Amino acid sequence: MISIAELSVDFGGVRPIDGLTVDLDAMVHGVIGPNGAGKTTLLNVVSGFTPPSGGSIVIDSIDVFELSADQRARWGMRRTFQTEQLVDRLSVFDNVLVMAETSLPRPARHDASMAAIEFVGLPSASVAAGSLNSLERRLAELARALVGGPKVVLMDEPASGLVGHETEQFGALVQRIPVELGAQVVLVEHDLDLVSTVCERVAVLDFGRLLAQGPTATVLAEPAVRAAWLGEALT
Ligand SMILES: Nc1ncnc2c1ncn2[C@@H]1O[C@H](COP(=O)(O)OP(=O)(O)OP(=O)(O)O)[C@@H](O)[C@H]1O
Ligand SMILES: [Mg+2]
Repeated sequence: MISIAELSVDFGGVRPIDGLTVDLDAMVHGVIGPNGAGKTTLLNVVSGFTPPSGGSIVIDSIDVFELSADQRARWGMRRTFQTEQLVDRLSVFDNVLVMAETSLPRPARHDASMAAIEFVGLPSASVAAGSLNSLERRLAELARALVGGPKVVLMDEPASGLVGHETEQFGALVQRIPVELGAQVVLVEHDLDLVSTVCERVAVLDFGRLLAQGPTATVLAEPAVRAAWLGEALT
């Protein structure tokens, strides 16, 4: 469980996170909200890329702000990014190995990288990332986030660019993460079909604040949530 209390982030007068209090208490928890709501900033603060200006985040009794980003990674915090991170000229294996190097001792890296590639179902570790199709690229990005005993996996729009059946396949994989790897997933996503399918609960951000939280179907039906999306996903 990720307990966020009174969290704020300041970028010189802009407050992308503004006194946010929420418990992310499901093993696959959605975080949704309009463009600019603060979703990526939240993942950046949890993972240690962006410093908070106030508040706290506690995960499994650990005060996250006492750990550096590297320490969080070694503890088991993983994330994917909204922009692609794959290096096309490197093999799938080397793309995953780079992440293993940040979080695992050397002797464990090879097997952990292969296990992550196998988990996501990529058929070959040796092909260049540049030769992968769009779904395979998303799977490779996910493998990078799953290498070596993740405890919390933060995903920033991991299914963007995928079409219907690809999104379904990706969603099925996301649902296996808590069951088979024991890690909690926080899914930031604009695709509400995917959110509805894989997230037991969802938090809605708007202007850096919590607009709603609860079981996904209930939250998506709330008038205030639908209003925040006027002109966006629900129209
Ligand atoms: N480094 C930064 N400096 C200043 N402002 C920033 C910075 N990063 C983000 N912002 C601002 O913070 C707000 C929240 O941005 P954020 O990227 O967290 O939104 P988001 O919910 O992820 O949006 P999207 O759905 O478009 O990805 C936006 O107004 C954005 O312009
Ligand atoms: Mg974002």
